[in-house]
Amino acid sequence: MKLTMQLGNRSYDIIMKRGCLANLYQFINLSNRKVFILTDSGVPAQYARSVLAQCPDGMVYTVPQGEGSKSLKVFGQVQQAMLDFNMTRKDLLVSVGGGVIGDLGGFCAATYMRGIDFVNCPTTTLSQVDSSIGGKTAIDLGETKNIVGAFWQPKVVLVDFDTLETLPRRHYVNGLAEAVKMGLIADPELFALFEQGKPEDNIEQIIYRSLRVKKNVVEQDEREQGQRACLNFGHTIGHGIEAVKGIRGRRTNGLFHGECVALGTLPMIEDKALAKRARAVYRSLGLPVRTGVDKKKVLAYMQHDKKSRGDTITVIKVPGLGCWRADRIPTSELPALLGIQEEG
Ligand SMILES: NC(=O)c1ccc[n+]([C@@H]2O[C@H](COP(=O)([O-])OP(=O)(O)OC[C@H]3O[C@@H](n4cnc5c(N)ncnc54)[C@H](O)[C@@H]3O)[C@@H](O)[C@H]2O)c1
Ligand SMILES: [Zn+2]
Repeated sequence: MKLTMQLGNRSYDIIMKRGCLANLYQFINLSNRKVFILTDSGVPAQYARSVLAQCPDGMVYTVPQGEGSKSLKVFGQVQQAMLDFNMTRKDLLVSVGGGVIGDLGGFCAATYMRGIDFVNCPTTTLSQVDSSIGGKTAIDLGETKNIVGAFWQPKVVLVDFDTLETLPRRHYVNGLAEAVKMGLIADPELFALFEQGKPEDNIEQIIYRSLRVKKNVVEQDEREQGQRACLNFGHTIGHGIEAVKGIRGRRTNGLFHGECVALGTLPMIEDKALAKRARAVYRSLGLPVRTGVDKKKVLAYMQHDKKSRGDTITVIKVPGLGCWRADRIPTSELPALLGIQEEG
């Protein structure tokens, strides 16, 4: 399967195929140039190695796994390693990993010598359904996520479904929350796939349809001037929950991003019957549908969210399956929205 992101001279193909990682050379020039392969310690080393085997002049650089690697410190280490490898502007960075490696690698490629070619090979469900396309690259500053970044589109994206076989179940399910999100805002048939049975039976269709939704949105609004905001569905409350209860640093028993997003979508679905269906899907996947999080803390975070402007905040609501609306609401309405979230 293949999709093409149509962005004028920044257009690129998204290849979805079992085993395609071993054939990366068919989609991008790996010869006559240096290839810097970025991965993390949690990604099985065989994936980066299979890319390395195709490069006459390549190297693998492995950073520690986890969000902590989206830092200025690790960013600096990667840049130094690229310089030590004598990379020039015609060389290539290939990310092999989840959203962390995609975001970090993309930002390193965007900034090294003012920008070199970048290829993304996502290996988690989250990165395969969402983060690997669209060109948003970033690192974090302390607790503030994705605050230092750039728009930098990849030259090609290789989605090798086989890599998901080694992904721990909780990460597998976590990423699917973003796919349910895409179904809710724009693709009823994608949502229905989750009601039909085990996601692994339909995983190729789930990934293809999710990426198609995202591609269509990004093509309309590459730099998030308007429409792209729909992808933030579930994220306004979700980020609030993540700030309070998310997994990070020493808080190792927290919730994953997708788990927070799933919780964040529920109060934003206006059709009661659809909200019930979404809860059933989340339950069947093993995603949370309620949390004992301190709502006042979530509220305090949301009031300082970057989408909040003074007394109002923009939220994405889903009035019915496959459609969405951006609502600018007074922050005084937030407590009521958070209240709904407690319903089981
Ligand atoms: N750029 C965007 O548009 C965008 C969109 C959404 C999320 N994100 C970012 O994505 C990041 C989260 O991505 P994620 O959920 O993929 O997390 P992740 O990259 O941390 O991967 C999750 C874990 O799985 C391990 N792993 C990766 N692939 C594996 C495989 N095939 N087998 C076994 N283990 C594997 C990793 O080592 C890591 O420990 C966040 O930093 C978030 O901000 C970016
Ligand atoms: Zn998300």
